[in-house]
Amino acid sequence: MSDLVLPAERVMAEPGELGRFGEHGGRFVPESLVPACARLEEGFREAWSDPSFHRDLERLLTVYAGRPTALTPAWRLSAELGITVLLKREDLAHTGSHKINNVLGQALLARRMGKTRLLAETGAGQHGVATATAGALLGLGVTVYMGEKDIERQALNVFRMKMLGAEVVPVTSGSRTLKDATSEAMRAWVTCLDEAHYCLGSVMGPHPYPWMVREFQRVIGDEARRQSAAELSTGIPDYVVACVGGGSNAAGTFAGFADTGARLIGVEAAGGAAVASGRTGVLHGFRSYLLQDENGQVSEAHSIAPGLDYPGVGPEHAYLNDIGRARYVTVSDEEVVPAVHRLARTEGILPALESAHAIAWVIRAAESGELPPFSTVLVTLSGRGDKDVATLMEAPAPTGAPAPTGAPVPTGAPVPTGAPAPMEAPALKEAPALKEEQ
Ligand SMILES: Cc1ncc(COP(=O)(O)O)c(C=O)c1O
Repeated sequence: MSDLVLPAERVMAEPGELGRFGEHGGRFVPESLVPACARLEEGFREAWSDPSFHRDLERLLTVYAGRPTALTPAWRLSAELGITVLLKREDLAHTGSHKINNVLGQALLARRMGKTRLLAETGAGQHGVATATAGALLGLGVTVYMGEKDIERQALNVFRMKMLGAEVVPVTSGSRTLKDATSEAMRAWVTCLDEAHYCLGSVMGPHPYPWMVREFQRVIGDEARRQSAAELSTGIPDYVVACVGGGSNAAGTFAGFADTGARLIGVEAAGGAAVASGRTGVLHGFRSYLLQDENGQVSEAHSIAPGLDYPGVGPEHAYLNDIGRARYVTVSDEEVVPAVHRLARTEGILPALESAHAIAWVIRAAESGELPPFSTVLVTLSGRGDKDVATLMEAPAPTGAPAPTGAPVPTGAPVPTGAPAPMEAPALKEAPALKEEQ
């Protein structure tokens, strides 16, 4: 796969003062926000070059957020699919998703810059919960903007945010989901620039957000690279797969593998597939691929996963797509629910609906032969599914879900046949089938 290797300094690098990733990114904001974005960039550059900031962040990520998160071989799913699936377990991070990595970084930065409050938008509620958590930890006030529709389907997370002391502001405009919550949070920020930091939840928004958030999420990919080197006899997985809403968990994961031969796959929701179906446009302060109607108006996105129904995508993903370094695929709602059930039954892990998009693509690609037998596939499990239980209770359970025990194991599968008990199964590095592949 050496044809895919690009110099690390050219991909997933610093986007420069203009914050451009090819023709994407930039800073398209009202004049009133330009100084705030410039101050934030300066504050981030200064903090990011200060070893004491890194020490503080690393300590919080370790002793508070529970990093490093595990890299778990999905033993039974691997056996069923005839490939090796490794799960990067962001569901095990404090508050239940990868969002905590970025939020702890931004909250520390906000405090360093003398801010007393955090503003945030949220879709699935995980970013809101993470922001409320960091606010409680560091003594910062928190206001979270959330679409009414998401408030209904993510009631558990709304309750968690309030318990943590955050104010949750319902947003009633437009599609009443993430796009409208983001617009509202940006509007609110303009009114309190001196005391509040806008804690954006993904690799989107005006420069420096896409770059800064990717750097705060890079920890996922860096850990996963070290862990897969220890786990796989190939060292690097053949494929690295992550779901894409704005794209922060995927950007953080890809950053750890951008300079390797691993194929990077971003999985979008079919109804929110900005890379697959969008055109270049400007929204929320950045230029990227956006879902638009024939008049150039931003279209509404839809996904069963509230964190994926954003009509745009982070600018760096648009660039990675343009240069062919990453590939973006789509998964429909109908494929996602069976994927949740399958991971729950084979591995005892209930993934977030967002993360289940990545699992669903891996299942489809393995079963259709798109993923060659014996492939090694690292999937970032961006969050846990507790928050989605109400949605899943309403969705019909898939028929023909794999039997809880005794699922057939394909011959020649790269994991030990019938590997039912991870404790008894040999480490992947010692799995003979994997060595054969060298
Ligand atoms: C668990 C989980 N995964 C993924 C996402 C999508 O966000 P991103 O693409 O920024 O990782 C969200 C967003 O809310 C989420 O809660």
